[in-house]
Amino acid sequence: MSYFDSIKHKASRRLLLIVGISVSLIITIVICLHSTSVIFPYKSESSSNDPSSSSTSSSSSFSPFSSKKSLKSPANTTLGFHKFFYINLDTRYDLDDIIQLQSDVAGITPDLWPAMKVSDLTLKGLPPSAGEWPKEPSGMLACLRSHANIWRQMLKEKWGSVLILEADSAWDVNVRQMMANFADALQDALPAFSAMNITNSKAAPHGNPKDYVATENDPYMAQHWDILQFGGCFEKKERAKYKHVYYDPTAHRKPIPYADGSELGPHERAIRWQNELMCTTAYAITPTGARKLLLRMSLQLNTPVDGLISELVREDKLRAYSTTPNVFIQWQYRDGLGSNNKNSDISKFKPGDDASQEARNKMWALARKEMKIWQYNGLFSTSGFLHPALGGQAEQLYGIVPS
Ligand SMILES: *[C@@H]1O[C@H](CO)[C@@H](O)[C@H](O)[C@H]1NC(C)=O
Ligand SMILES: *[C@@H]1O[C@H](CO)[C@@H](O)[C@H](O)[C@H]1NC(C)=O
Repeated sequence: MSYFDSIKHKASRRLLLIVGISVSLIITIVICLHSTSVIFPYKSESSSNDPSSSSTSSSSSFSPFSSKKSLKSPANTTLGFHKFFYINLDTRYDLDDIIQLQSDVAGITPDLWPAMKVSDLTLKGLPPSAGEWPKEPSGMLACLRSHANIWRQMLKEKWGSVLILEADSAWDVNVRQMMANFADALQDALPAFSAMNITNSKAAPHGNPKDYVATENDPYMAQHWDILQFGGCFEKKERAKYKHVYYDPTAHRKPIPYADGSELGPHERAIRWQNELMCTTAYAITPTGARKLLLRMSLQLNTPVDGLISELVREDKLRAYSTTPNVFIQWQYRDGLGSNNKNSDISKFKPGDDASQEARNKMWALARKEMKIWQYNGLFSTSGFLHPALGGQAEQLYGIVPS
């Protein structure tokens, strides 16, 4: 549970689920405008103690696949993707530093993708709008454009898969092994879903289970999905029963709730077919996904990027999977340090907050002791990381175990 105030987490989740999409759109804007462990190829547990074999009837139990391989590439420095970017504004060097500190301790190498600035946008350069025409370029549109620039470049350069992070992403020191475990489980999950013969959706897992073949160059079988969400929020119940539960030693130790009402036990993670998911803290995309999103974007101007993705998924036009709990979640400045409003670029930054100087001194004393000025955003489904990369440097350099 390290940094995570679970009570607050639950309360805010419930509240925000009620408040719904309108709030989440605002959150998206905020998110986007923000905008060494040795890894061995992971060998999965034998199927006899694979938690998926004991899960409910609607869960996948289609196993084992003789063609299944333990692959090395998902544990490489780009996590098995052909390209790996984080989107950041060149004025948010604070976020750049934290990305680099976390990358260093986890042994990954996301490249900077420069975010589009609002001042660089012109209304003329945007697609027409069916609704009200915006009065001026906004942070939301700059955010959407930043993502769209990657989708476009992906098609131009013929990248086979891209993993995209927003600049305030947080992850685990063992994210490489986590992704190797995920890639391993995906080889069970996707053929199992396709074997369920789901017929009421065009975006359903499809094809002959034997066609799902992972290779070192294509460890996630990119021709079978448009988007993989690794950092979504507002997990929904719909389609949650299409899940594949697997054992991941890098995941949480205590049981956590899962969207279908069940629980994921210690070290259990689920891959699921998505119906919609907000937040774009981290996702992977394929060329087909990039084509679909670019086409959709040309038809509608006034949608935040996660709303666009979510709409396409809901309309059965985008094949999307995700994993619970998240592999990447959003961090923000710790409450009470006087930096709260740095978490938002839509409101004008003014240093300080309403806390008394005395209260602030207390928080700062704690922050110095723990060498920790961040906390996780409670919107994201997670139980916290076992080894948060955010605390990884303080641990390695000074032996401060993340609290
Ligand atoms: C799915 O369809 C295939 C081909 O029609 C059939 O062989 C298989 O038994 C079906 N599986 C299920 C779970 O219905
Ligand atoms: C990681 O693996 C993927 C898939 O094989 C590959 O495309 C990518 O170039 C690799 N990354 C590095 C840094 O070699």
